[in-house]
Amino acid sequence: MENGTLKVVDSRTNASYELPLFKGTIRAADLRTVKTSADDFGVMSYDPAFMNTASCQSAVTFIDGDKGILRYRGYPIEQLAEKCSFLEVAYLLLHGELPTESELKSWIDAITHHTMLHEYFKKFLEGFRLASHPMGMFVSAVAALSTYYPEAKNVLDPEVRKLEIYRLIGKVPTIAAYTYRHGLGFPYVYPDNDLGYTENFMNMLWKMVEPKYRANPVLARALDILFILHADHEQNCSTNVMRSVGSSLADPFVSVAAAAAALSGPLHGGANEAVLKMLDEIGSKDRVPAYVEHVKAGHGKLMGFGHRVYKHYDPRARIIKWTADQVFKVTGSNPKLDIALELERIALEDEYFVKRKLYPNVDFYSGIIYQALGFQPAMFTVLFAIPRTVGWLAQWQELLQDSEQKIARPRQIYVGHEARDFVPIEKRGAAAAPPAR
Ligand code: CMC
Repeated sequence: MENGTLKVVDSRTNASYELPLFKGTIRAADLRTVKTSADDFGVMSYDPAFMNTASCQSAVTFIDGDKGILRYRGYPIEQLAEKCSFLEVAYLLLHGELPTESELKSWIDAITHHTMLHEYFKKFLEGFRLASHPMGMFVSAVAALSTYYPEAKNVLDPEVRKLEIYRLIGKVPTIAAYTYRHGLGFPYVYPDNDLGYTENFMNMLWKMVEPKYRANPVLARALDILFILHADHEQNCSTNVMRSVGSSLADPFVSVAAAAAALSGPLHGGANEAVLKMLDEIGSKDRVPAYVEHVKAGHGKLMGFGHRVYKHYDPRARIIKWTADQVFKVTGSNPKLDIALELERIALEDEYFVKRKLYPNVDFYSGIIYQALGFQPAMFTVLFAIPRTVGWLAQWQELLQDSEQKIARPRQIYVGHEARDFVPIEKRGAAAAPPAR
């Protein structure tokens, strides 16, 4: 039986309740019927870090963490990575179906015609110090777009949403490329509408004085695959921020900026940069066993390992390893690969990691590829944010079309002081008892 009920007996009152189950879930609000008296607030669920709470119903991405399965709109990630372009996958995530040939053509055309930034935007970026972290610039720049498109505040208008979605997907590579060139002191390169999404991004990153930039097709395809793999990952930390900020009906530019800020942390998208720092710190293959022991002794974490949902090999990590091989055939191998492979080998055999089901995640190998492509580690999380913008927007659209959703507003268990009287400043300082927890 798919649904059924959950029988609960309240030991305080001996009353029993039947809570409806829906796909193995009870509604937290139904717990409010469990009360000791008519004026009792009712039972709440307590779930710090959302360890066991579904916050929405979503049809975008499916993950089975125990089996290592990832699907976008029902399609296995392996098939999409092999057969699709990133923009095709972006269409799928946002529209629910793969595009026909003509739908894909007009989709690509719409995105391509929204890649330019307002000329004043350059002045805004010039205000950043040369050594500014590109992710800080990216977050600020995406938020600043909100000031250029004030109509974006009409988030309940589907036509406005459509336009802002084109703009965001079109402009994030341009912003990313500008943050990159800013750090190098190079002039910004305008988008080239003759080129595909990834090739154009590479053009804006690396074009110098040549009249036309031509990306290496193997490297362009590798970047496109990386974009596909990073496009969505259901209710992760940054997507939860996108939905939470979006639930206040904030415009999509500031909402994406907030989501990107969440992505920047080292436990989330910032892990790819942290992996490279870790591999640098390890330095050589023979020092891997000592580093693993150091982590096991409680000194930090193995970055790029572990996942809240995957208790199995991350399917994206497998595709990334294959992609790395293709890239290295063009660029030559990255010496850090040997250290990473050794780290993976030792960790996957070690009792500590086996017991905790810690496997390499998407961030473990991606940085090694990015570095081989010529990026500094500080750019890595920006490269994650470009494709994830699509996932954030797909989840945001779904949120705004979901009649059950309201402004996100969790409850708390108050553990502070009971009511107490104000103390004048001259009488303060006597050791106050801490609140009982
Ligand atoms: N290295 C060593 N020990 C680890 C690691 C790790 N990378 N990850 C988890 N553990 C241990 C953790 O100390 C805990 O041990 P114990 O039970 O003895 O206290 C146990 O494994 C369970 O970990 P947790 O911290 O309760 O798991 P979580 O679901 O809260 O955290 C995570 C998930 C991804 C934040 C965590 O695994 C981590 O910090 N990994 C390193 C950072 C990283 O690679 N993040 C990228 C995640 S994938 C892409 C993305 O989301 O952006």
